[in-house]
Amino acid sequence: MNFWQTIPKPIIGLSPMDGVTDASFRFITAKHGGPDVVFTEFVNVETAFFAPDTLIKDFTYSEIERPIVAQIYGHTPEMFYKVAHIVCELGFDGVDINMGCPAKKVAAKGSGAALILNPSLARSIIQRVYQGVKDWCEGQSLSDLNIDPGFIQKTRIANRLRTGVERPLRRRLIPVSVKTRIGYDQVVVEEWMQTLLEEKPSVISLHGRTLKQGYKGSADWESIARAVDVSRNSGILLLGNGDLQDMQDVYRRISQSKVDGVLLGRSAQGNPWIFRGKEEVKRALSSNGGVSIDPMPIRLEERFRALLEHSSHFEKHWGLQCFVGMRKHLAWYCRGSPRAAELRSQMVQLSNVGEVMDCLRNYAASIASEFQPKERAPSPRPSRSSMASEPLIS
Ligand SMILES: Cc1cc2nc3c(=O)[nH]c(=O)nc-3n(C[C@H](O)[C@H](O)[C@H](O)COP(=O)(O)O)c2cc1C
Repeated sequence: MNFWQTIPKPIIGLSPMDGVTDASFRFITAKHGGPDVVFTEFVNVETAFFAPDTLIKDFTYSEIERPIVAQIYGHTPEMFYKVAHIVCELGFDGVDINMGCPAKKVAAKGSGAALILNPSLARSIIQRVYQGVKDWCEGQSLSDLNIDPGFIQKTRIANRLRTGVERPLRRRLIPVSVKTRIGYDQVVVEEWMQTLLEEKPSVISLHGRTLKQGYKGSADWESIARAVDVSRNSGILLLGNGDLQDMQDVYRRISQSKVDGVLLGRSAQGNPWIFRGKEEVKRALSSNGGVSIDPMPIRLEERFRALLEHSSHFEKHWGLQCFVGMRKHLAWYCRGSPRAAELRSQMVQLSNVGEVMDCLRNYAASIASEFQPKERAPSPRPSRSSMASEPLIS
């Protein structure tokens, strides 16, 4: 049985996001939120094969993130075949094929969501990934495929350094999945699902927008519900995706569309805790709504501790020269804080963990004085006063 079948339904996972769901982000999300499954950022198959050194960053992970699925994209079936071996050799729990990216640099080459226009190529790619996983499982050696064993070794060492453990590699058939959209320039979800179902991936994750929409408009959950109808009784899991802001949204969309699960993307940015509510959603769905799904308030102190931990992880693993990549995360963590805009404008200029720490100290002092009870003033509002009296960072 593959790991997807062992996750209690509905599956509530972290959606892949290029430039966001790197190993530091996934580590923090797994530790503070605990999604059912995480995906790597998408990785181009040509780059993975010809410039593997650059991919150590993309394909490293910690044990806490499991189950972890490596996402790959491209347009050449033979490259997918080879890179499926790399994914297996690195111990991932699954391999996902991106057929949903709308970016020009991806789709113009016939990769990502452009594959929706080319069903026969899409099918060949799925078939070659299957074959790659199968051949690896049956013992095919990487050197036969001209795969640089040095890259595998370096990535394994990076993983061991990060987690302190290295899982003994066991040759096993890992599940193949596809993440896609409901169409290219118009909704063709029924036909497209039929095509994909014929190749029997373990899971299809469906973002309820066309390539043409990019990220505009609203995700079309009615089309996702129609995809559920098409895939019913196929044994293939369908995950819906798009615009889920919180666990109440997740509950509502799953009950209406009857998907097997969902992936959350942007709502997890700076918000690893969003996944904490997943058990309530599962309970509520199994008891027909008899459980309340209240978002758990995250205290400022907890938010800033996670922000610091994330910054330290990032600095330690990617180095100071890359810290600029952490700034967007810092900005996301500021959402909902008092004087968020001011804090955010400072955060996006920071260059190391020390500066993050100083910035938070100054911020804590300034909001503590702002919310300090004035002499003979009426009692302050309890939430604000408790915020000011607790140390935000220690
Ligand atoms: C910055 C960014 C990067 C993304 N990168 C990927 C990617 O590498 N692979 C992928 O399948 N989808 C990618 N997506 C799409 C998301 O996984 C998801 O389908 C989309 O954001 C809709 O879900 P949401 O509304 O929960 O964010 C990306 C989205 C964003 C915003």
